[in-house]
Amino acid sequence: MAAPRIAVTGRIPDAGFELLHEAGDVVAWDSLDVPTVNEVHEMVAGAEAVLTLLTTKVDDAFLDAAGPQLKVVANVAVGYNNIDVAACARRGVVCTNTPGVLTEATADIAMALVLMSTRRLGEGERVIRSNTPWQWGMFYMLGSGIQGRRLGIVGMGDIGQALARRARAFGMTIAYSNRKPVAPSIETELGAEFMSMDELLTTSDVVSINCPYSPTTHHLISSRELGMMKSSAHLVNTARGPIVDEAALVEALRTGEIAGAGLDVFEAEPTVHPGLLECENAVLVPHLGSATVETRSAMARLAAHNAVNVLNGVEPPTPIPVPAI
Ligand code: DGY
Repeated sequence: MAAPRIAVTGRIPDAGFELLHEAGDVVAWDSLDVPTVNEVHEMVAGAEAVLTLLTTKVDDAFLDAAGPQLKVVANVAVGYNNIDVAACARRGVVCTNTPGVLTEATADIAMALVLMSTRRLGEGERVIRSNTPWQWGMFYMLGSGIQGRRLGIVGMGDIGQALARRARAFGMTIAYSNRKPVAPSIETELGAEFMSMDELLTTSDVVSINCPYSPTTHHLISSRELGMMKSSAHLVNTARGPIVDEAALVEALRTGEIAGAGLDVFEAEPTVHPGLLECENAVLVPHLGSATVETRSAMARLAAHNAVNVLNGVEPPTPIPVPAI
């Protein structure tokens, strides 16, 4: 029997290739630039397994281009809003993602953004780098302390919980909203209080978005929600850009409706709303949540493991739940 064709639609760390090369004939995109849709479609034609990055759109056109022999789409990301999972399920294509291995790295970036936003570190760095004259002063560039302040976590999955652990170590108290409360043992460990989204928004000093993106979380944070937040509060988003209505956020940052924001993700990545670029009180970093050498290798390895298991007829370690179709 011919070895299965395995396509990889973006550059991934070498760790990902070890298993893949043993399992089939690998064709991999070998540039740091994102391939065009046509280039992706050419690459996946005839593949039985495809490893995709979050910049690869997996829709009916992709599935048509791949062909009926396609068995698995293994996303090298935990978020999978780039994949039409229902369309894959209709064609019997298994989808997988990479939860777990990027939890700590992403929680680190969320905590870093909490600190950067509340302590105005982006602004401070810009002063130095632009050679703007400055002088230590009792009232110079004051931020707000986070000890004893409430962190409201929207989405208490693995990353939300890992962020809560970090924030507790910084003396913050934890509130969260989620589809349902987490296990009582986790609530106790984190000292976390479950509450409605509205209560969380009105009472938190920092609100962190840690839920997945889906049609139900599209613009979950818009003018109404920003208007409910304290004027001293900060918003942090390390999940997916379109969960926050960026135009509404720009308005809230401009008018002082909220004090600041720390964003790792954007509505139309890699484009950033021009209004955000003008807001001194916005810390903006380019989707670095999982960007450590160790984490990216672990993600690639897990995605390869998922793909190879499906090719071998074995349950993959981290399948994406199949939606009802
Ligand atoms: C993911 O895996 O979904 C992250 O956003 C990648 O950084």
